[in-house]
Amino acid sequence: MDEAIESLRKEALAALEACRDPAALSEFRVAYLGRNGAVKGLLGRLSELPPEERPAFGRDANLLKRELEEAFAAREKEMGGSGGGDADAVDITIPGRRLPRGHFHPVSLVMDEICGTFSAMGFEIAEGPDVETDFYNFEALNIPAHHPARDMHDTFYVSESILLRTHTSPMQVRAMEERKPPLRMIAPGKVYRCDSDVTHTPMFHQVEGFLVDESVSFADLKGVLSLFITRTFSPDTPIRFRPSFFPFTEPSAEVDIGCVICGGGGCRVCKQTGWLEILGAGMIDPEVFRSVGYDPEEVSGFAFGLGVERIAMLKYGINDLRLFYENDRRFIEQF
Ligand code: FA5
Repeated sequence: MDEAIESLRKEALAALEACRDPAALSEFRVAYLGRNGAVKGLLGRLSELPPEERPAFGRDANLLKRELEEAFAAREKEMGGSGGGDADAVDITIPGRRLPRGHFHPVSLVMDEICGTFSAMGFEIAEGPDVETDFYNFEALNIPAHHPARDMHDTFYVSESILLRTHTSPMQVRAMEERKPPLRMIAPGKVYRCDSDVTHTPMFHQVEGFLVDESVSFADLKGVLSLFITRTFSPDTPIRFRPSFFPFTEPSAEVDIGCVICGGGGCRVCKQTGWLEILGAGMIDPEVFRSVGYDPEEVSGFAFGLGVERIAMLKYGINDLRLFYENDRRFIEQF
């Protein structure tokens, strides 16, 4: 037998003999038979030997291992029980490790806050499908095939008539088809556009809002949106209603607020204008009312669609929208 094996054998048997209590037995097991013990170390040296010596050395080392295991079991029995069990067993006396606490994503925080503000104003919350038909996303919103407004949406098509919704406005149509006025609803959700830069991501969130009743005016729209903005930011937030165009509203507006990143002085986020667009809005077009069977002579209403990430950027002073979707925990943990 190899000298090293023989000397380890003698040393281990003497150490085993010297064990007087279960704790010592347990230490023996770790030192000689454990995952990083002496016997494992011996086997690890196999590769250093000349090839012709390896088979005999391996066999003897394994014989030693078996002998020590048997001797250990016998000594354990002699002592009347388990000597601390498996050397690799879990030590239940070690204090547990604390799991890191999770954080809400800033988009979820802002989404919840937006929904809370509109709920407090009496808006119901509805949800609709992300995979939408061309009819609800475009046709019913007065955007027929080949209408130039389709180009602005950079649509991801699933098939010729199925697509990933490019905005939450299809929910206006779905809700009006199902319900009779008066309606006061918001529809939060994900939307998709083939678009990416500091203020655009291919997937983002919108909250659609619409109110349909008798004699609803643009003043109602302005009042509701101004209240929403001052509640979400601060009472002195600069707000700008800018004339715009959407095929499904007339008149239409886009609403900007003073860029909180630069304080209105101009930066790359607001493209040096001092303003950042957060939503589109307008009075619901009579064509849309007709497509759902409402009489535009009897009812009127307003609608708006706001960009949740843009609001989160402004609320938390984030200067690149793409940070939201890089999944860097150091970013998320700040909220
Ligand atoms: C619309 O999507 C209209 N459906 C809004 C609307 C609803 C108008 C009801 C009238 C009545 P727009 O394409 O402008 O409009 O987008 C609305 C908001 O979404 C923008 O103001 C902006 O805040 C946000 N937004 C648009 N594209 C992106 C993008 N790629 N990434 C992040 N936010 C975006």
